[in-house]
Amino acid sequence: MHQPSPWTNPLRDPRDLRLPRIAGPCSLVIFGVTGDLSRKKLLPAVYDLANRGLLPPSFGLIGFARRDWTTEHFIDVVKEAVRQRCRTPFRESTWTNLSQGIRFVQGTFDDSAAFERLSDTVAELDRDRGTRGNHAFYMSVPPSAFPVVSRQLAASGLSHSGEGAWRRVIIEKPFGRDLATAKDLDRVVSEVFDPSSVFRIDHYLGKETVQNILALRFANSMYEPIWNSNYVDHVQITMAEDIGIGGRAGYYDGIGAARDVIQNHLLQLMALTAMEEPVSFSAADLTAEKTKVLSAVRLPKDLSLNAARDQCAEEWQGSHKIVGYLGEKGIDPSSTTETYAAIRLDVDTRRWAGVPFYPRTGKRLGKRVTEIAVIFKRAPHLPFEQTAVRELGNNAIVIRVQPDEGVTMRFGAKVPGGTAMEVRDVSMDFSYGRSFTESSPEAYERLILDVLLGDPPLFPTTEEVNLSWRILDPIEEFWSTLGQPQPYRSGTWGPAESDAMLARDGRHWRMP
Ligand code: BG6
Repeated sequence: MHQPSPWTNPLRDPRDLRLPRIAGPCSLVIFGVTGDLSRKKLLPAVYDLANRGLLPPSFGLIGFARRDWTTEHFIDVVKEAVRQRCRTPFRESTWTNLSQGIRFVQGTFDDSAAFERLSDTVAELDRDRGTRGNHAFYMSVPPSAFPVVSRQLAASGLSHSGEGAWRRVIIEKPFGRDLATAKDLDRVVSEVFDPSSVFRIDHYLGKETVQNILALRFANSMYEPIWNSNYVDHVQITMAEDIGIGGRAGYYDGIGAARDVIQNHLLQLMALTAMEEPVSFSAADLTAEKTKVLSAVRLPKDLSLNAARDQCAEEWQGSHKIVGYLGEKGIDPSSTTETYAAIRLDVDTRRWAGVPFYPRTGKRLGKRVTEIAVIFKRAPHLPFEQTAVRELGNNAIVIRVQPDEGVTMRFGAKVPGGTAMEVRDVSMDFSYGRSFTESSPEAYERLILDVLLGDPPLFPTTEEVNLSWRILDPIEEFWSTLGQPQPYRSGTWGPAESDAMLARDGRHWRMP
């Protein structure tokens, strides 16, 4: 039986809230199943859900791809991916049950006969496995393939469910490359699927620590009174990666850091940090508050001083060469795509007037870390003669999204022993790893389960996506007039241009 989400139903008996939500009979069809995302994230997540008892016995998994594979071979591929990447222990009993519901359909997206075969396979799962006409279609494919796949799903009748059953579609980012293309994509998908059946994945919203922003802000009484422009100086939202673009040249070149990450993950983090308390955690109430924040975002007038974009340069570490962006396989050597981006955004509301938000992201930086740092104003008066005021930093609350998930508070404390009052900055830490015994599920586990349950709060709406493009489009347009980005050194905290951007505002980046 489908258990309603605790997020959407605050009136449930509190004792019920701890019951796991288990998907009803259904199947998941993955287009683009031979891709990286599938192998590294989707297939292991499906296994982990099964292993946690969150998928029903009547569950089917169908891979659809061009390769000339049989179902038997596909089952081996899934097993290999699961063995390599599953988060929970590998159990033969889970695997045996799951693998009995796995099928493979070979075909290209423009081949109507392949979609007829898919339709037969889905019907066979309904009959033999008891999936009861409930099917989710995961588009793990480039946006250019959305129109043809959507049309084929409609033409083969796969997008229509019978009475009492459902069909849903899951769309991976990028949702376009600007507002105009995002709207085009949306038109194509909504011709085939009702908006309530469309689930857009922003995998950051599936992360436990991102959901913890809501818990931190709204389950406690001590943060909300100071969470505003009376006390907050500015907010830094950092997503740093120490890796390059991997094998994703085809996707990344021409997209760049801002479209890849700021338009979606970082603006969502910003919306959750800045929004007012929602009436409930239902999709409608959450999105209403996030939408208000995104609508209230104002870009600085002079983008040349408030938006930095740069490209990672080649670097020698001893005798070891780290390739720069232009040296990555498949990248055009004259590419102007940025691998680092930082911008200043203001939120024109009473709560945030005069408090800038600075999202930044980059590849090949000093380390992999994602965090939201709420930096507070200095105390108006510091009566400590023995402490040079510049030694004292600002108080801060840092939500550590990953790794080492948790929350840090930074504040000044008396240095022990001295005869005079000397103060130094210290940290107080909450760490998920130390406070809880269970490990956090992968974001994709949560999101796939929510789709199968038809539970939408963790999926951005079309309006949120469009508003995010409205914020980014003028910046991208400005950058497109600039030519080659400045280079920055791999393994550092990014380009001097970005440091200068904050320095002009009298601030500096945290070094997480
Ligand atoms: C993806 C981006 O959305 O997020 C990638 O396209 C990035 O470029 C990835 O590497 C990072 O995800 P995570 O969960 O490892 O922080």
